[in-house]
Amino acid sequence: MSNYHIKQFEEYFQVYRKSVRNPEQFWEEIAEEHFMWQKRWDSVLEWDFTKPEVKWFKGGKLNITENCIDRHLPTRGDKTAILFEPNNPTEDAEHITYHQLHQRVCQFANVLKDKGIKKGDRVCIYLPMIPELAISVLACARIGAIHSVVFAGFSSKALSTRINDCDAKMVITSDGGYRGQKTIDLKSIVDDALNDCKGIENVLVAKRIHSNINMKDGRDYWLQPLLDKANNHLKAEVMDAEDPLFILYTSGSTGKPKGMLHTTAGYMIFTAYTFKNVFQYTEDDVYWCTADIGWITGHSYIVYGPLANGATTVMFEGVPSYPDFGRFWDIVQKHKVTQFYTAPTAIRALAKQGTEFVDPYDLSSLKVLGTVGEPINEEAWHWYNENVGKKNSPIVDTWWQTETGGIMITPIPFSTPTKPTYATLPFIGVQPALMDENGDEVKGNQVDGRLCIKFPWPSMARTIWGNHQRYKDTYFSAYDNMYFTGDGALRDEVGYYRITGRVDDVIIVSGHNLGTATIEDAINEHQAVAESAIVGFPHDVKGNALYGYVTLKDSGESRNHDNLRKEINQLITDRIGPIAKLDKIQFTEGLPKTRSGKIMRRILRKIASNEADQLGDISTLLNPEVVQNIIDHKL
Ligand code: WT7
Repeated sequence: MSNYHIKQFEEYFQVYRKSVRNPEQFWEEIAEEHFMWQKRWDSVLEWDFTKPEVKWFKGGKLNITENCIDRHLPTRGDKTAILFEPNNPTEDAEHITYHQLHQRVCQFANVLKDKGIKKGDRVCIYLPMIPELAISVLACARIGAIHSVVFAGFSSKALSTRINDCDAKMVITSDGGYRGQKTIDLKSIVDDALNDCKGIENVLVAKRIHSNINMKDGRDYWLQPLLDKANNHLKAEVMDAEDPLFILYTSGSTGKPKGMLHTTAGYMIFTAYTFKNVFQYTEDDVYWCTADIGWITGHSYIVYGPLANGATTVMFEGVPSYPDFGRFWDIVQKHKVTQFYTAPTAIRALAKQGTEFVDPYDLSSLKVLGTVGEPINEEAWHWYNENVGKKNSPIVDTWWQTETGGIMITPIPFSTPTKPTYATLPFIGVQPALMDENGDEVKGNQVDGRLCIKFPWPSMARTIWGNHQRYKDTYFSAYDNMYFTGDGALRDEVGYYRITGRVDDVIIVSGHNLGTATIEDAINEHQAVAESAIVGFPHDVKGNALYGYVTLKDSGESRNHDNLRKEINQLITDRIGPIAKLDKIQFTEGLPKTRSGKIMRRILRKIASNEADQLGDISTLLNPEVVQNIIDHKL
C-alpha cells in the first residue's frame, strides 16, 4: 500500500488513522519520498495555536519550481505541462511542454532579476488567463519573490489597495485580455491604480490584444523584448521551507481585504498530495480546472498541485458562454479532458441553458468531476452527474478556503461513496470539529455546529501579511486552540460533513467571497447615502445575490431612485469590481438596530429571503417600528 496514492475506501481509513495518530511521521514520509529537497529539515512540525505559530519542515531547503518543473525534465520533458486554450475557439491551442516551461520560467525569472527583483520582494500580478500568468507566478517562485496575484476583474481601487498593503515593487500586466466577445483593458486600470502606489518601480506589460496603450517612460516595459534577450537557464533560489511563497487577498467580515500568506514546503506538499488523490490523477490524464489563477483554486489546482505531479493542466482564457454554452464540453471533447473541476454557479448557469448544449459532445474521456467554492445544491449536483458525468464519473464536492491552501473535506473518487450536497469526509491529515455556542465541541453524529480544525495541516496560511494580530483574532480567538473557518456545517449519521454556509458577514456570490463591510463602505461614499446594510439572498444561478438596504440622508429626497441605484452600483464597480454589484437596492427609512446600535443583519437577511414570517421577537430592538415598513416595501 502506498500512502501517496489512495485507491480504496479501506485504504482511506487506514491512511487517515495514521495521519492523525502520528502526523509528523506521516507527513515526513510523504515529504521524503515524493519531493526534491536541497537540504533535509530539522523538525517536521512545530506549532502553537495560541500565538498562533505553525512551522512545517523547519530547516528544510528547497525550491518549489524545481519540484514543479526541473525534476520532471528527464522523464517528462516533452510532455505538455500547460495546455492553453484561447478565448477564440478558432485560434490554436498552445501546448507548452515541461522543457519549454522550464525555459520560459527561467527567462522570465532573469527579467525579474534584471529589473531589480530580489528574494522576499513582492510582485503584483494582474493578468488575464494567458500563459504569462502561470509563468510569471513560477518565475517569482524561482527567485524567491513573493507573488501577489490580483484577479483581473478587480477595479483599479481594489488593485491599488492590494499593491499598497503588501508594498509591491513591480506590477506584471498586459495591454488587455479577451473574455467572450469583449476585450478588457487592463493597462489603463493599472495606470489608474498606480497614481496611488508610490512603491511601484516597474511595470512589465505582456501583449495580448494589441491595443493602443500608454507606456510610461522608465517605468513600463513590454515584456517580450526583455524575454527575448534573457537567458533561458537560471539556478533556482534556495528557499527555506517556511519562506513566504505568495500572498493572496481574500475578503473578511470587516475591514480591508486580508493578505493571506502561504509558505513554501507545506503548501507544496499538501497541494500536490490532495491533487493526486482528490482527482485520482494518473500519468496520461488531461486535467482541467476552470477557475482563474487570480483565486486560490487556480494557484493550488491549476498551477502548483498539478505541476508538482508532472500533470498536463489546461488553462482556459475564455468564458463558458462563448461562442455558445457548449464551450466547456467542446474543450473537454477536443482535449480529451479526464478531470474537470468547476464551481456550482457555472453548473447552474449551464443547466439553465438546457441539455442541447451538452448532448452533442463526446464526454467519454471524463473520469472525475469536481466542484468548489460554495455549497452545491441537489438539483445542480444531479444535473452535473447525469448530463456531464453520464452517471459514470464520481463528483468530488471539495470544501476548502483561501486560508487552507488546499482541499480539506472531500470524497476520494472511486473510494468514498458520494452523497449529493455533502463534501463527505476530511482529507488525510485534516481534523475537523463542530463547535456549539458555548465553545464546546459537539461530538457524535447527526449534529451541527461551527466548523473548526483542531490540528495544523501543512498548507494552512501562516499569517495575514502585516497584521498577525488580525490573523489571531479572525481565526484563532473564537475557540481555544482551534482554527475557526467561518462556516457552519452538519455531520450526518455516518459522519459525512455538509457545509451549510458562512456564519459571518462574508457572502459567497457566484463562488466569490465578498465582505459586506467593503461594499457598505463603497456605498456610504455616495453623498446622498446616510447608511447601508448588505445581505445575501438565494439566487438560482449565483447561489447568493446581494440585497442592499440604503437609508438616504434626506429621506424626502425627490431624486430618482433608479438613478441613485445606478450610481450606487457604479461606485461599487469602481471601488471593488462588477462582481460586487447589488441585485436589489431598497431605500429604507431606517435600519433595524440593537440597543447598542449594531445593525441587525439577521432580520434584514430574513426579509430579503422572503422569510419575514420567521423574524422572531423584535421588540428588544432600538427601533422595531422600522421593520414593518421595510417588509412592506420589499423588492
Ligand atoms: C469559502 C471559501 C476554496 C476555493 C474557492 C473559495 C465556501 C468553498 C465549498 C464547498 C460549501 C464551500 C465556504 C468557504 N466553500 N468550497 N465545497 N461547499 N462551501 O475560496 O474564496 O476563500 O472561499 O467558500 O464558505 O469558507 P474562498
